[in-house]
Amino acid sequence: MTTLGTPLSPSATKVMLLGAGELGKEVLIALQRLGVETIAVDRYDNAPGHQVAHHARTITMSDPALLRALIEEMQPDLVVPEIEAIATPMLEVLEATGVVRVIPTARAARLTMDREGIRRLAAETLGLPTSPYQFCDTLAELQAAIDGVDGQAGIGYPCIVKPVMSSSGKGQSKIDGPADVQKAWDYAMAGGRVAHGRIIVEGFIDFDYEITLLTVRARGASGEMQTHFCEPIGHVQVAGDYVESWQPHPMQPAALEKARQIAKAVTDNLGIGLDGQSTGLGLFGVELFVKGDAVWFSEVSPRPHDTGMVTMATQWQNEFELHARAILGLPVNTALRCPGASAVIYGGVDAVGIAFDGVDEALRVPNTDIRLFGKPESFKKRRMGVALAFDADVEVARTNAKLAASTVRPRPA
Ligand SMILES: Nc1ncnc2c1ncn2[C@@H]1O[C@H](COP(=O)(O)OP(=O)(O)OP(=O)(O)O)[C@@H](O)[C@H]1O
Ligand SMILES: [Mg+2]
Repeated sequence: MTTLGTPLSPSATKVMLLGAGELGKEVLIALQRLGVETIAVDRYDNAPGHQVAHHARTITMSDPALLRALIEEMQPDLVVPEIEAIATPMLEVLEATGVVRVIPTARAARLTMDREGIRRLAAETLGLPTSPYQFCDTLAELQAAIDGVDGQAGIGYPCIVKPVMSSSGKGQSKIDGPADVQKAWDYAMAGGRVAHGRIIVEGFIDFDYEITLLTVRARGASGEMQTHFCEPIGHVQVAGDYVESWQPHPMQPAALEKARQIAKAVTDNLGIGLDGQSTGLGLFGVELFVKGDAVWFSEVSPRPHDTGMVTMATQWQNEFELHARAILGLPVNTALRCPGASAVIYGGVDAVGIAFDGVDEALRVPNTDIRLFGKPESFKKRRMGVALAFDADVEVARTNAKLAASTVRPRPA
């Protein structure tokens, strides 16, 4: 049985979001609607989620002492990581000592905080199909991984280099031949979250399409763990960053079945906490590549996914509401309401406190909606908002979402 309290009272159910960007903001709003007391944490002031939470805090979340002090001060019932750059070993300590419950588990937060933990889990522990890969600490190791050593085949060309600690395509590039290797290495060194970090080199998968399979672990009527799947989300990435997504993406039954099996295997494992039981709750974004009936696991977010913003237009319960419900032990409904699409609104300018022209025109595009995230500072390639559209025909929704997004014109105020 789940009991919820009254915010700002002794009975309050308190949830702390570690990361208060646009995805965290929507989770916070979903929690607010259930009368949960919310604490939004980010590394800078006035982050999107700060603006909608009961409590807003600014700390360096990768600093274990600061993180511990804040959790001990606020005493949340649940800690919900929304970003990867967190002192996850400290979360494991706090979970192990019963100070707090981490969503889905502190172990999942640690395993997905860089590409190595999750890739080794998926490929080596669970035996799931992935691109061929190697981890490298030097340029020489990268070259050897591509060429192969001692007669063993290497990854070859084309391949993709990514810093182990990075997201949104930062520091990521494709290598088409020997002439690109040095450039890709230098780019990865400059783009990672930590200087001189490791990289992963992956064989290039020539997929037909890629999807995000939103997968929810929630409690059933008698407390048992259940796994629910949303309809597959198709998306387009430019330079490793999502620019548009749509749902549903049509899939052959055999490929869909494989995608669900992979998603179930990964999320079942990430749900395993310190007690060895798979009881972790919440929504996951499982990224998969598909070619014909073949499906490869790429990566997973143990939290709402950026491409899943489309569900604000397409599902009865969007991915943020599903996450909020699941982590509170409530039932979820992953049904599609109507096909739809999302398109990213980029800042286009480097400026603080920008203005958005054309919002009215954008909303005159049929069956559209927009979200402006309220980020205090804009960068050319920073995601500042998203346009949403629904339509019985998913292609019409895609066209309309892109049109609405392009009609919003950010500019210095
Ligand atoms: N091995 C691969 N073969 C082909 N394409 C790939 C491969 N790895 C990555 N990509 C492409 O690059 C995109 C981004 O890669 P990935 O998801 O690993 O990085 P990311 O930085 O975590 O991106 P995001 O944060 O936007 O999810 C993928 O969605 C896919 O389009
Ligand atoms: Mg990705």
